[in-house]
Amino acid sequence: MPREREPADRRPPRARVPVTVHASAGEACRAVAGEIAALIAERSAAGRDTVLALPTGRTPRAVYDELARLHREGRLSFRRVTAFTLDEYWPLPATDPRSYRAFMARHLFTRVDVDPARAHGLDGGLPAAALPGACDAWERAIAAAGGLDLALLGIGRTGHLAFNEPGSPRDGRTRLVALHPITRADAAADFGSPAEVPQQALTMGLATILGARRVRLLACGARKASIVRAALAGPVGTDVPASVLQEHGDVRAHLDAEAAGELGAAE
Ligand code: GLP
Repeated sequence: MPREREPADRRPPRARVPVTVHASAGEACRAVAGEIAALIAERSAAGRDTVLALPTGRTPRAVYDELARLHREGRLSFRRVTAFTLDEYWPLPATDPRSYRAFMARHLFTRVDVDPARAHGLDGGLPAAALPGACDAWERAIAAAGGLDLALLGIGRTGHLAFNEPGSPRDGRTRLVALHPITRADAAADFGSPAEVPQQALTMGLATILGARRVRLLACGARKASIVRAALAGPVGTDVPASVLQEHGDVRAHLDAEAAGELGAAE
């Protein structure tokens, strides 16, 4: 008797965006770094700047290590790069070592030749009254730089992109948001305890991110598998903010085999 195929509804769903599955997280990070380096090199050679939106988190650290290595070896210059960090805790002074500004300085900006005046971070030390103006200025700065050429994104276990938690509007811009309890629990190790993680954060909005001409998602590890499946193969909706990536015209997800573990194989 011919073997029956597994019923369609039992098979893992296929991603609705292009996906590259890498053998390891290190390989995924090197591939992403290679693409960023190639974009910078190509645009620099043509006398053009490259505008990047960059994430924090554990996942992209090896991307930054690789970019720093390419720079150290004289193969990559950030002189024509403008960078915008995706988000920042609030309230948290920029001088706090747990701030994303400090993270980006440590992991990338002080290791390459980017102009410090062009390595932008939202300021978590501002008073509440100054935030609306600062968020508007941030959007204007991205536009004045010519818009984002590439947004590199991680994904949180709530499905957040940057700090756009479930419920974030598709047309949202840079603003102050409340962090989800899961996100705060995931950040607890960086702050000593969950109670010390700020309740709020500043984040680029989904519309700001989707305005990038190229979007690359990087996710690694088994703990991301179910949210990767929901984001890339599930319905598009505000309950899984990263699902809006399905609507971008130049998006690719770089996953390791573990993060891709709940997705069906591409045909
Ligand atoms: C934080 C950041 C996100 C990042 C996420 C995942 O919440 N705000 O931009 O994508 O962490 O982090 P990790 O790579 O450590 O899993």
